[in-house]
Amino acid sequence: MSDQQAQKQAAAKAALNYVEDGMILGVGTGSTVNCLIELLSTVKLAGAVASSQVTEDKLRALGIEIVDLNFAGTLDIYIDGADEVNEHLQLIKGGGGALTREKIVAAASNKFICMVDESKSVEMLGREFPVPIEVLPQARSYVARQLVSLGGEPVYREDFVTDYGNVILDTYDLDVSNPIELEQTLNNIVGVVCNGIFAANQADVLLKAGSNGVTTLTR
Ligand code: 5RP
Repeated sequence: MSDQQAQKQAAAKAALNYVEDGMILGVGTGSTVNCLIELLSTVKLAGAVASSQVTEDKLRALGIEIVDLNFAGTLDIYIDGADEVNEHLQLIKGGGGALTREKIVAAASNKFICMVDESKSVEMLGREFPVPIEVLPQARSYVARQLVSLGGEPVYREDFVTDYGNVILDTYDLDVSNPIELEQTLNNIVGVVCNGIFAANQADVLLKAGSNGVTTLTR
C-alpha cells in the first residue's frame, strides 16, 4: 500500500471518531471518503445524505439508508476530502466533479470535517490544482471567455457530466490569493452553477494525515 493510501486511511479512521450512533451523516465523495465508508459498518447510523450518486450507491450497498437532504434538516456533521487545503482551512474541491452537491451538503451541516493526506496541504490554493467550475452546458463557451478575462485558463473536462447534467471547466492560473472574493466573483458569472473554492464555507475541522500520524486543526 502506498504512503498516500495509508494516510487516507488514517485520516478516515480519525474522522470516524466524530460519527455517533443514531446520526444522519453527510458523506462526501472520493478515495479518502471511500476509506471512511469502509469503516461505517462499525456504527449504527440513522441514515446518510450522500454528496454524489457514486457515494450513494456505496452507502446503499452497505445497507445504510439514504436520506433526502430536504427531509434531513440541518446535519450534525459532513465529512469529505479535498484536493487542496490552506492554513485557513479553505479548500479546492471538485476533482471528482461532485462539487455542487458537496457544497450544498456542507452548507447544510453544522460541522464540516475535512480529511486529507499531507500532499493536499498548500500555501496558496490554485497554483497547482485547477479550480473546477460547474457550468450549464449552454453557457460553456461564454463562461470560458469570462474565465479567460479573469486570467484563467479553462479546460473542458471531456466525457464528464455532473450528477446535475452539467459540464466542468477545470480552470488553471486563476489568482486565488483572496479565496472568498474569487469564490464570489466566479459565482457571479451567468451560467456558473458552482465553483470548487470552499472559502465562504470552509472546513471547520481538518484531519491531516502525515508520516507522523494525524493532526487536527480547527478554526
Ligand atoms: C470530489 C472531491 C474530493 O473530495 C476530492 O477530489 C478529493 O478526492 P480524494 O479523496 O480522492 O483525493 O472534491 O468532488
